[in-house]
Amino acid sequence: MPLDAKVLDAFRERKKKVLVGGGEKKAEERHEKGLLTARERLMRLFQPDTFQEIGAYVKHQCTSFGMQSKDFPGDGIVVGTGYVEGKQVSAFSQDFTVLGGSLGKMHARRMTMGMDYALKNGTPLVGIADSGGARIQEGVDALSGYGEVFYRNVVLSGVVPQIAIIAGPCAGGASYSPALMDFIIMTRQNAQLFITGPNVIKAVTGRQVTMEEVGGADMHASVSGNVHFVAETDREAIDIAKRILSFVPANNSEDPPHRPTPAVTMAEDPGMDKLAQSDPSAPMDMHGIVRRLVDNGDFLEVHAGFAKNIIVGFGRVEGIVVGFLANNSMEKAGCLDIDSSDKGARFIRFCNAFNIPITTLVDVPGFLPGIEQERGGIIRHGAKMLFAYSSSTVPKITILCRKSYGGAYLAMCSQDLGADVIYAWPTAEVAVMGADGAVNILYNRELKEADDAAAKRAELVSEYRAEFASPYLAAARGYVTDIIEPSRTRSVLSMSLRKLMNKREMRPPKKHGNIPL
Ligand code: HXC
Repeated sequence: MPLDAKVLDAFRERKKKVLVGGGEKKAEERHEKGLLTARERLMRLFQPDTFQEIGAYVKHQCTSFGMQSKDFPGDGIVVGTGYVEGKQVSAFSQDFTVLGGSLGKMHARRMTMGMDYALKNGTPLVGIADSGGARIQEGVDALSGYGEVFYRNVVLSGVVPQIAIIAGPCAGGASYSPALMDFIIMTRQNAQLFITGPNVIKAVTGRQVTMEEVGGADMHASVSGNVHFVAETDREAIDIAKRILSFVPANNSEDPPHRPTPAVTMAEDPGMDKLAQSDPSAPMDMHGIVRRLVDNGDFLEVHAGFAKNIIVGFGRVEGIVVGFLANNSMEKAGCLDIDSSDKGARFIRFCNAFNIPITTLVDVPGFLPGIEQERGGIIRHGAKMLFAYSSSTVPKITILCRKSYGGAYLAMCSQDLGADVIYAWPTAEVAVMGADGAVNILYNRELKEADDAAAKRAELVSEYRAEFASPYLAAARGYVTDIIEPSRTRSVLSMSLRKLMNKREMRPPKKHGNIPL
């Protein structure tokens, strides 16, 4: 018997309901606000005609609050797989037009179906959050749903890259799923991310705060550090996710998407000499230096608004994907502090988990002095840098550009922490501390007794600088692979990256180390 047209019509009717989510009116309202629907967001992410949906007909099982008679298309989420620039990606997108995108047991089930697919097939995961949080009607089942999602976020961590886009409300415990992922992109337009909002804060503490202050994109990108990228719109957020995907492998068993040029260019770059600074008190344009090193100046800075004293991000050097870390003397003189250590260590661990070689550009006067830093645990946080570099086995190339002082010199991937190659510019200063500090400690008595203390100090500082503020003592003791002119940095780095591509380093087996959290 041929296919009954009524069966097909009934199916098409059902499918239509799923495709329109909360209905055309609600979709229009979103468009008027400049927002995309959940499905449109995924269509923007994936290459045309590559999206395949998972669990489209999943229905909630809730019987409380009269829910048994209600139907919610897709259960407030769209889940599926597709291709992004040729790479298969799994994704979910919460649909605020259906019960506020709230998460119940079956909503979570769909989400975890996508996550399990990502795990089994080694695809990156992109999760778009736009939700009122735990579905109140489903009570503990909704909480359990979150638990299942968090559990999978952790299982996926280090296996496939996970990117969260916060494109609407993401409140309470819901915020822990993005927090467990590798990168968070947040829109300025419509998104809020918080554990407790202004009303609860007012009720509990009496303090009046705005939503922007507790949960806005700018606050998270610059103060809390929860957010890595801020986007104006949904479209921009999705484009940032695609940019990240262009630098990372699909999973931890693959190499990142290198596109090596046929040969390494050994040309000099005189422009780099102009950026190098020998005056220790002059700020050095480290962003400019990184941009000169990467192909076409194309650098994807991560966490650009947070802990600006360290710069981290992705670029390619003659096609080889590299994770860069660089001290930025234009903020806090480039000192390492609590936030920059957290930022740096997290980035190093991402690179190591996903086989991305690390290049470190050093211009660090030390750890930031201060009572807030000590009381805030700079010892614990700074140790994360030591831990992250020491435990990383990807190729590690360090370039000592200028200040390389004390423990911070070690924490910026010195040879002792496993750097494979260390280049130093002639402007590099490798010492226990800067000239002023050292002279104060070493010659305290002489300076007190001197007739002209200022002149004596200038003389001693100059002597110290001549003797110690250079790369030559470190090089003489074998801590430096080679001293290079800044203009040769890109070619030398490029050649070293090629030569280190097959690096393999084994460590003793263990469950995991105990990074100082
Ligand atoms: C069920 C929900 C819901 C929820 C929203 N809705 N949140 N339904 N459970 N958590 C429904 C609304 O009833 C409404 O349904 C529709 O979604 C749209 O919501 P509105 O309030 O009309 O939208 P808006 O004015 O834009 O406000 C959005 C909002 C607000 C700020 C997100 O809805 C809100 O405050 N929701 C509750 C947020 C919250 O406290 N969630 C629990 C967080 S704690 P109709 O039928 O009218 O369209 C949590 C614990 C997780 O999530 C723990 C995990 C470990």
